[in-house]
Amino acid sequence: MMSTMGATQGSVATSTLPSSIPIDNSSKRLMVTAGRASRTLGASIAGKLGVNLVDPGLRTFSDGEVYCRYQESIRGADLFIVQSICDNEQERLTVNDALMELLVMIDAAAGASARRIIAVAPWYGYARQDKKSAPREPISARLVAKMLETTGVDRLLTMDLHAGQVQGFFSRPVDHMTAMPVLAQYLVDQFKPKADLVIMAPDAGRAKLARRYAQKLGVPYALLEKERPEQQTVKMGYVIGDVKGKSVVIVDDMIDTGGTLAAGAQTAFDEGAVEVVAIATHGVFSGAAYQTLRESPLSQVIVTDTLPQRLNTPDFIRRLTVADILTTSIRSILTDRSVAAIFAGENQLF
Ligand code: R5P
Repeated sequence: MMSTMGATQGSVATSTLPSSIPIDNSSKRLMVTAGRASRTLGASIAGKLGVNLVDPGLRTFSDGEVYCRYQESIRGADLFIVQSICDNEQERLTVNDALMELLVMIDAAAGASARRIIAVAPWYGYARQDKKSAPREPISARLVAKMLETTGVDRLLTMDLHAGQVQGFFSRPVDHMTAMPVLAQYLVDQFKPKADLVIMAPDAGRAKLARRYAQKLGVPYALLEKERPEQQTVKMGYVIGDVKGKSVVIVDDMIDTGGTLAAGAQTAFDEGAVEVVAIATHGVFSGAAYQTLRESPLSQVIVTDTLPQRLNTPDFIRRLTVADILTTSIRSILTDRSVAAIFAGENQLF
């Protein structure tokens, strides 16, 4: 059985740092702030960049309206606003609060004459609603893009979008990063030396992703046949490929209710796998996800910190940080260097 590990999230002491630094001796100034959905990740990134987080003075009024007033001048700065579009249990923030908060932070920054406003939203909420799957539906991923641009965002830095085409909803630059280097390295370090591994895609949509992981690790890959009879419901079919006697790693972009992984893991076991772990960039874990995963045959679930950690995270969930990847990307954006070079051109996975 593979070992399980406790949940982790780094914290960074930033109190002695300046709140802005000059960039490459030019007149540009770097400033970093964060919304309440992503304060921990924002503080980690700011610390790595050598600045203190700018206090955006966020509040929620008694009727639920969100409010922002930067507590220092941001005039002329390249302002990076770290805010995933997701809920935060500790902050009692819903996904829609987080979106609205991001918008008011952009609006306030535009009004306060920031030079460039860059939204750092590693998890782009609403990305799944990227097309009309049935008549009379909205294309909400496009709506979010329109709102961000109309409000005044100059650029979006995001990670492992549910579908890369979401970038097409923006007319301004989108830097699409991937957590794959961190996740693949973890698999190499923890599992490859001791197991006969197979990478498995949970559905046809992730076949390319599974192939990439398999190539990186030098192991075979398999594919699950999955159907969604309705939203947030999974009907798992069979495995295409050989998992008998193997340790299986299911790779996905996101885990929401956990239904896909639980059903996928069961199918892999039914077809002879000896153990199954899952790896995904975004751990949404909504509703009864923890219970669903706990009751599944998965021995470990690995995600990153693109979303904040939920209360009562079970021990079998391991969180890795993407703060280094985002920090390196921000440095490249600031200094007009290639962002694709960070990933050797392999950042368009979905
Ligand atoms: C599907 O296309 C996605 O890649 C994920 O497999 C899915 O969204 C996960 O959702 P859930 O955990 O609710 O099954």
